[in-house]
Amino acid sequence: MSLFDIASGLVRLLPAESAHRFTINALKTGLAKPQPDLDDPRLAVTLPKSGLKLANPIGLAAGFDKNAEVIAPMLGFGFGFVECGTVTPRPQAGNPRPRLFRLSEDRAVINRMGFNNEGIGPFVRRLSATRGMGVIGANVGANKDSDNRINDYVAGVRAVWPHCSYLTINISSPNTPGLRGLQDRGALEELLGRVGETARELDTVVKNRPVFLKIAPDLDDKAIADIADVVLRQTWLSGLIVSNTTIDRPESLLSRHKGEIGGLSGAPLMEKSTAALAAISSLVAGKLDLIGAGGIASGADIVTKLRAGAQAVQLYSAMVYEGPGIVTRLKAELVELLVASGASNLAELAKA
Ligand SMILES: Cc1cc2nc3c(=O)[nH]c(=O)nc-3n(C[C@H](O)[C@H](O)[C@H](O)COP(=O)(O)O)c2cc1C
Repeated sequence: MSLFDIASGLVRLLPAESAHRFTINALKTGLAKPQPDLDDPRLAVTLPKSGLKLANPIGLAAGFDKNAEVIAPMLGFGFGFVECGTVTPRPQAGNPRPRLFRLSEDRAVINRMGFNNEGIGPFVRRLSATRGMGVIGANVGANKDSDNRINDYVAGVRAVWPHCSYLTINISSPNTPGLRGLQDRGALEELLGRVGETARELDTVVKNRPVFLKIAPDLDDKAIADIADVVLRQTWLSGLIVSNTTIDRPESLLSRHKGEIGGLSGAPLMEKSTAALAAISSLVAGKLDLIGAGGIASGADIVTKLRAGAQAVQLYSAMVYEGPGIVTRLKAELVELLVASGASNLAELAKA
């Protein structure tokens, strides 16, 4: 057991947000000694539309490394890709604390962080030092007090474009009032129109920067159909990340924190986010890359996401309970599932 494992065990005794800060600091000081192993070649995937090549399909979801501080150590733990952010153009404090809650009995988390981050300047400085380390996504958002949110996305896209492997436009956080309204047909058309113009312009200088749109799980069939219709017209867009946290509170929740306001993630989000993924996949499969997120805590969960249409996945909440060593376990479980099914790669396993 490493010093980091011992420290991570103790960290779980701290309030959730202090634990998160402690972990980031420990990772920055190198207390953690991640040892990247070479991945089993059967875990490799290439996302068809974006062309992103991943040594394994498991990504770190946005929100853990909001300020791009620990990209290298997280890649070192064996994630196939790491997404940092959400970053906003200007720094902002986020909501008052407490704003992050562990729902241990439910293997879940509720957060209402509200895009606390240091702003685009420090983010880009750190991001630009990670060139060549691996597949790194930059997730951009809008300031809470912005008078033109679309301009914020455009500014974020311009700033991170040269320094990342892909970009994510996050319009699905429940913790910035009105943000999810950008998923409505008219607003989404306007947003993607502007981001698309910017992407086409930037692409003439720096090529191969796929852009993903991250959506909420709390969308009815009509909203999903509208989003599919709008995104399919944006031929420059590479794919969707499905999904962010939910504002739903399933009856099954046990924890005393279940009534906290914010986005729920972790195990109780698995079913809902997978249903949203399957619904959108039935409309866009083969035309857009799909990254599944929400409730992943096992190799079998990953296969469920692949069967619902994803080519890659991301996780955050399960790591709150298990630490970053979870990636090694999930990869081992995927290899076991591959062997048991006789499939020679993940696409075959998804069909088996
Ligand atoms: C504490 C916390 C902060 C988050 N912050 C962000 C964020 O800044 N941007 C974003 O796109 N998603 C954010 N998310 C959502 C995750 O990226 C992910 O989509 C969601 O938690 C579902 O995955 P999970 O069930 O594996 O956690 C956050 C999640 C948590 C738990």
